[in-house]
Amino acid sequence: MLVLGIESSCDETASAVVQDGSSLLSNVIASQIDVHSKYGGVVPEIASRKHMEAIVPVILQALSDAGVSLDDIEGIAVTRGPGLVGSLLIGVSVAKSMAFAKNIPFVGVNHLEGHVASVFFNDEKPAFPFVALVVSGGHTNVYFVKDFQNFNLLGQTRDDAAGEALDKAAKLLNIGYPGGMVIDRLSRGGNAEFIKFPRAMKDSMDFSFSGLKTSLLTYTKKRNSPITKDEMPDVVASYQEAIVDVLVDKTLRAARRCSTSRVVVTGGVAANSRLREKFYEEAKANGIEIFIPPPILCTDNAAMIAVIGDNLLQRGERNSFDMNAVSRWPSLLEL
Ligand code: KG4
Ligand code: ZN
Repeated sequence: MLVLGIESSCDETASAVVQDGSSLLSNVIASQIDVHSKYGGVVPEIASRKHMEAIVPVILQALSDAGVSLDDIEGIAVTRGPGLVGSLLIGVSVAKSMAFAKNIPFVGVNHLEGHVASVFFNDEKPAFPFVALVVSGGHTNVYFVKDFQNFNLLGQTRDDAAGEALDKAAKLLNIGYPGGMVIDRLSRGGNAEFIKFPRAMKDSMDFSFSGLKTSLLTYTKKRNSPITKDEMPDVVASYQEAIVDVLVDKTLRAARRCSTSRVVVTGGVAANSRLREKFYEEAKANGIEIFIPPPILCTDNAAMIAVIGDNLLQRGERNSFDMNAVSRWPSLLEL
């Protein structure tokens, strides 16, 4: 089945064409990073307007890159939530219009379930069941995934998401945007033991990153002088290590608890080189197989949405034209 995916939940306008839920024919992503960087974060109103400008050219590009026309598309998968509702609505409206005009089915997809599905483009695909860590700018969730329809939430963040903690730290240190990517780059060569940042909620499956952020703020305030350019890699490497440590530790613990030896790591923060390295190292030592998508499929994209869409459509699921976007999706079990 040839499925067109559409994603517009945050600051990436994306479209992709996927064959049979596993073959990626095209993957177009228009990022709004430049537009939002001067504000140090995503401005929802601007994001909606930019999605509106980009969505049609992005979809046309995805069709053209795949060498197909809209007449060849058999179903449309669009991100329904969670995300910025004004942004989601752009994708949802376009998906509905195209489905109506071409008389083809469309389905609304959970963005987080999509992130997990991005690993199915890897050459080595995980067999179900597995534990999945979805770690992004908005979420830090650990699931036990029995199959595409069966996600059991084992732990989540009680405050900031891991990506948010990285983004806020970069803003505080005034080192650029988006923070996760900047910290990743600056940390290489830094001493991760320079500052001993706290690791919160050690005995729980849930996460908390707001204390870490406060701890960084306290560190900067207590100093008599500003952090120098030479010290910065050590400071951010220490901060990043505190996040990476907790993510790896709790996810592998979840795998042990669920008696599975397969772990999927995905979402924007899974593009982080230190997180990837540590997961592979620790997994090897613990007899666990790690599956991480390539960085371009860790961050927001529409290919992952098309994989879930294909699965839903193959099962005969369809949404009606009164489907609305949802900013919060309380549970993946609702799908
Ligand atoms: O999945 P995503 O693209 O969007 C959401 O659904 O949130 O994730 C965006 C998050 C941001 O917080 C960004 O700073 C972080 O992913 N990120 C990274 C890296 N690339 C993106 N964090 C750490 N290292 C990276 N290389
Ligand atoms: Zn995302």
